[in-house]
Amino acid sequence: MRKPIDDFPILAPQADGRRLIYLDNGATTQKPAQVLDAVERYYRSENANPHRGVYQLAMLATDAHENARHTVAQFLGAPDEELIFTQNTSEALNLVAYSYGRAFLKPGDEVLLYVAEHHSNLVPWQWVAKTTGATLKYLYPDENGRLTPEELDRKITPNTKIVGVAHVSNVLGLEVPVAEIVRRAHAVGAVVVLDCAQSVAHMPVDVKALDVDFAAMSGHKIYAPMGVGALYGKKELLEKMPPFLAGGDMIAAVHEQRTTYAEVPWKFEAGTRNVGGEVGLAAAIEYVQQLGWDTIMRQEEALIAQALDGMAKLPYVRVYGAASAAGRHGVISFNIEDVHPHDVATILDNDNVCIRAGHHCAQPLMEYLGIGSCCRASFALYNTAEDVEALLRGLGRVREVMGLGS
Ligand SMILES: Cc1ncc(COP(=O)(O)O)c(C=O)c1O
Repeated sequence: MRKPIDDFPILAPQADGRRLIYLDNGATTQKPAQVLDAVERYYRSENANPHRGVYQLAMLATDAHENARHTVAQFLGAPDEELIFTQNTSEALNLVAYSYGRAFLKPGDEVLLYVAEHHSNLVPWQWVAKTTGATLKYLYPDENGRLTPEELDRKITPNTKIVGVAHVSNVLGLEVPVAEIVRRAHAVGAVVVLDCAQSVAHMPVDVKALDVDFAAMSGHKIYAPMGVGALYGKKELLEKMPPFLAGGDMIAAVHEQRTTYAEVPWKFEAGTRNVGGEVGLAAAIEYVQQLGWDTIMRQEEALIAQALDGMAKLPYVRVYGAASAAGRHGVISFNIEDVHPHDVATILDNDNVCIRAGHHCAQPLMEYLGIGSCCRASFALYNTAEDVEALLRGLGRVREVMGLGS
């Protein structure tokens, strides 16, 4: 029977019979032939600059761009007009910080972030807090890596204006309680910015059901090309926000001394778009939808449970966050006693097993956990039980290779 892994050319067995065991999906995912073909088809037969020409080819490109918007918007449960194409999650989050944050924050206001935030949802807020006089505050997890209602009650105050959280932390791999956060934030008039970079590839995300005010994602973490991402924003907020970047296509009319802007979402899309990437993102979403969330989630949960069980048998492996598979999506971060994460990753690489080692762009969380760095194995819909076995076999050898005994 054909398996998902067969759709991914980079994961096919090589001449020596070995294949890549790719467990760095939290950083970026591999691309199925369906996505590669869609991008190639677009550039072979439909490429022109969207929203510019009136000739037929330009119309095809415009349709490709807007149809892709529709697919991404539907995927997130949003109307098309609330879906802005960006380069990636980072640009989407910078857009919110620069446009919404700079326009509406003032001294005394508080921006509340989860200490587990990726730098992309943290550094922009540091900059904006500095220029507006707002204060940055942090939410902290409990000893199991969970964000508790008590912590939310302690930190969300009438001064809170923005709550920024990753739906799933790229280190802890745990889903945050979005409903609890949104209810408390909205009760004090704050907006919620949800970083969905790590969640969209692992579970359904419905921004309307979640009632978040903004949500950001990257295409490359869900089997699409690099260089395309999206920001969802509630229309009433997007309309009162100033543009983020200026240039072609985001204007209604330009005069020597003043400019009026296009309607949303185009007001936030300055310059020529990455239509090939957008087409690839739409194809990736269709690919995921064809497999279905039930299948994907069941498979990934089984892999995570298998990996956690195996790690629990290795006494020198320390896993960060709760050691159960429940509420964990895609990611397991860990360290091996007395071995630097870079050594672990290099030793595994000898067996063609790719994992990430480092601070994972989440240095405040590393500080909070009292570590400089860690290893991370992260899973995707094409990973198999054999991949996890290879990971565990490799981890079982690391200390021996380092001369530390087993
Ligand atoms: C939780 C989270 N947020 C944001 C990002 C940034 O994504 P990008 O580099 O695609 O902008 C990442 C990337 O790893 C992430 O894991």
